[in-house]
Amino acid sequence: MNDNYKIKDIKLYSIGRKKIKIAEKEMPGLISLRKKYAKTKPLKNLRITGSLHMTVETAVLIETLKDLGADIRWASCNIFSTQDEAAAAIAKSKIPVFAWKGETLKEYWECTFKALSFEKSLGPNLIVDDGGDATLLIHKGYSLEKFFNEKGFLPKIHSNNEEEIIIEKLLRKIHKKNPNHWHTILPDILGVSEETTTGVARLIKMKEDSDLLFAAVNVNDSATKSKFDNLYGCRESLADGIKRSTDIMLAGKTVVICGYGDVGKGCAQSMRSYGCNVVITEIDPICALQAAMEGFQVKTIEDVISKGHIFVTATGNKDIITLNHMRKMRDQAIVCNIGHFDNEIQINELNNSEAKKVVIEPQFDCYTFPSKKQIFILAEGRLVNLGCSTGHASFVMSTSFSNQVLAQIFIAQNKPNIDVYNLPKVFDEEVAELHLNHLDAKLSKLTKEQADYIGVSRNGPFKNKNYRY
Ligand code: NAD
Ligand code: ADE
Repeated sequence: MNDNYKIKDIKLYSIGRKKIKIAEKEMPGLISLRKKYAKTKPLKNLRITGSLHMTVETAVLIETLKDLGADIRWASCNIFSTQDEAAAAIAKSKIPVFAWKGETLKEYWECTFKALSFEKSLGPNLIVDDGGDATLLIHKGYSLEKFFNEKGFLPKIHSNNEEEIIIEKLLRKIHKKNPNHWHTILPDILGVSEETTTGVARLIKMKEDSDLLFAAVNVNDSATKSKFDNLYGCRESLADGIKRSTDIMLAGKTVVICGYGDVGKGCAQSMRSYGCNVVITEIDPICALQAAMEGFQVKTIEDVISKGHIFVTATGNKDIITLNHMRKMRDQAIVCNIGHFDNEIQINELNNSEAKKVVIEPQFDCYTFPSKKQIFILAEGRLVNLGCSTGHASFVMSTSFSNQVLAQIFIAQNKPNIDVYNLPKVFDEEVAELHLNHLDAKLSKLTKEQADYIGVSRNGPFKNKNYRY
């Protein structure tokens, strides 16, 4: 253990560095942004906290932000998603990182706090968040201090939820050391850029409740993020996670995918391409109709609970697969989640049920019910592509992370008021363009007459803001 990092094993740095070098060649967006901003260094003197899966691709993002001048501290946003070799390479290059595969929840929240704690008791100026946990810790800490400052005592912890209790205890520990920690660091925070659908939903809720304490940029809803990472990323990384953990033959299996948003669409295409019989569950009639018109069966979970060989949740919602559902599944059904949080499947309820758990390998558990029926749970219900594999491939993460870099520069340069912002379409088009060459794709150019005829500029933006891609 070193003050500037807490990782699995620093000796893994050399394999991490080799993988980072390979990834860089597949991440043309990030490498172009390094070149574009090499001289101006728009993030110079800014402290950035990252709470985002500590993978090889994230290492390329971190080193890009560093190249642009930032002082960085990083933690993962999931207990199972760190690639230890990537964390080691980052630590070796003297960037503080607090992440390893297989953290406990208590360790996870301590790592998040460490990533938020710069030297001389300073906090960040900017945050790169994925799922909103860094943002949540700041907001909860601030609200606890406010309560104490108004009432003169700290409220009792009422929650029954293990993770909420861990967060509340951590905040009380921080409060004991410095009762104004969060109030002191807040004025320096310019904003957060949020990576994923679920994190954006949290931000919008905070804004609507007038609880949001700093500006936020919604990276997820850039077309070059959600229409690529969520869709094409999951189209490849879902199968990778399922196969690396279970070795299951997919062809011919009935795969039930809950949720047909961007992630669900990618998962469904993937499973169909393996020869699976894909069934979709949806609550939104538009998405349900899209699934039906793609030729997928659309059913309720109750209709298919005993028929599915594999269940994948992709909703960003909770209690999608309940304990009662799991009791009704066929023998050796595989249950996994690719949504951001693990509450899509009732794992706590399963752990407290009559089913006996045996760990086959880390992130691959078998539960046996008294009837002798068994089901398999992958990554303890946490996102299967990162828990049982290494997440999306580098190329698609380059599109996501180019948006992250542009969002960080946007916040640094504009210092926007408290609100949730989307990035301008010109950024989206720039990110896409940076990735065409790598795939030998050649763009056509509008003539002046054509541009006038369809009412756009020859150099873009090429679509109005309501266009859906
Ligand atoms: P989305 O909003 O586009 O899609 C979610 C879909 O689930 C919606 O169509 C919604 O109608 C449906 N849904 C909600 N409740 C449901 C229910 N009870 N039953 C059936 N369907 C229901 O979101 P998305 O962009 O597809 O993201 C889904 C989740 O995946 C989010 O948590 C997101 O943060 C996460 N995500 C994960 C990865 C990854 O690499 N694992 C990548 C991107 C996004
Ligand atoms: N989300 C999905 N895949 C990822 C990856 N490889 N790195 C970081 N975040 C991710």
